[in-house]
Amino acid sequence: MQSWVLPLFVLIALIPGFGNRKGTHALNNGLGSTPQMGWNSWNHFGCQIDEQIIRETADAMVSTGLAKLGYIYVNIDDCWAEMSRDSQGNLQARASTFPSGIKAIADYVHAKGLKLGIYSDAGYQTCQGQPGSLGYEYEDAAIFAAWGVDYLKYDNCHNDGSKPEVRYPVMSKALLNTNRPIFYSLCEWGQDDPATWASSVGNSWRTTGDITDNWSSMTSRADSNDKWAAYAQPGGWNDPDMLEIGNGGMSTEEYHSHFSIWALMKAPLLIGCDVRNIGKDTLDILSNTEVIAVNQDSLGVQGKKTNQSGNLEVWAGPLSGKRVAVVLWNKGSSTSLITVQWTDIGLSPSTNMKPRDLWQKQDLPSHKGSLSAQVVSHGVKMFILTPTS
Ligand SMILES: *[C@@H]1O[C@H](CO)[C@@H](O)[C@H](O)[C@H]1NC(C)=O
Ligand SMILES: *[C@@H]1O[C@H](CO)[C@@H](O)[C@H](O)[C@H]1NC(C)=O
Repeated sequence: MQSWVLPLFVLIALIPGFGNRKGTHALNNGLGSTPQMGWNSWNHFGCQIDEQIIRETADAMVSTGLAKLGYIYVNIDDCWAEMSRDSQGNLQARASTFPSGIKAIADYVHAKGLKLGIYSDAGYQTCQGQPGSLGYEYEDAAIFAAWGVDYLKYDNCHNDGSKPEVRYPVMSKALLNTNRPIFYSLCEWGQDDPATWASSVGNSWRTTGDITDNWSSMTSRADSNDKWAAYAQPGGWNDPDMLEIGNGGMSTEEYHSHFSIWALMKAPLLIGCDVRNIGKDTLDILSNTEVIAVNQDSLGVQGKKTNQSGNLEVWAGPLSGKRVAVVLWNKGSSTSLITVQWTDIGLSPSTNMKPRDLWQKQDLPSHKGSLSAQVVSHGVKMFILTPTS
């Protein structure tokens, strides 16, 4: 255990209402001290990708200002490779859509101060049928490193039926063996409760099946991810899947909820829309620096659902500096008053806390005991509570 882990553990244990961390020793690759931020091609483009889209997205990450807010990974998902290996057994970029090769794209992305992610699979083939890395872990990790890849998303299709606990650590060791720091994102869809074993294997692990761009999919992924909160820690994060904000299937209020809850849960913030054609509402949501700061807080404790009354929910988690992040989430169909009681979030009722509304960007007068707000249907209010001295 690293020397800083123990004091942190004791500190968390002392905060009533938030429980203990359960994560074991984190993977020692120096990455993921806060949840990863960036973009991934899948949610918007699916298999319809090419190198021009990747380059233009990298350009747009910089020109929109998203890159300087911390969204540094540009991640290529499935469909970048030829459907067979070359005569030496190497994966090869798909000549029809990635004619310059992955190394050239990595160089392009790096020149913009960004990092490049790629995708493979712990099976014989990826979900879209390109060669998987099962049995080729060391060869594939070596070629990713040689190309300058900084991140690997590792899927679970067409596997051999053995447990993920057996297949995923092989790639973990292969990546470490390259001596290039490569962020390792496990995508076994939460099948074998990866929170309980993956913190020594990867930097994040999916806790759910794929998200789709609708309210019920998004809310159910949040609830499934919530039960693993105690296992998140710097170096390894629960992953309820990538963001759908900007893809058009939810209302602006619903996208506010999506972003607020993902930030509070210390989920990866991987943008899933077409950043080249991003709208103002979408950019405003993704660019809220105060919400991003909750996600990236150094304490690294996943916030969770702390109280629920029908469709009205309180989610909260501790931040550095004895602050507390709170999301009041109205899953019902009409505007409602939601109250967070200090006792629900580990505070003594007599504590004076100064709330700041992170979407209104407004400081409120100090509160003692509780805080109430009207919350619109499918929307949130998000606050940071800071102790007054
Ligand atoms: C949301 O997406 C899921 C998964 O694709 C689908 O089964 C469901 O019908 C969708 N719900 C709505 C309301 O569109
Ligand atoms: C949760 O919310 C309900 C309804 O507002 C409230 O009665 C209760 O005191 C709260 N706290 C707990 C721990 O249930």
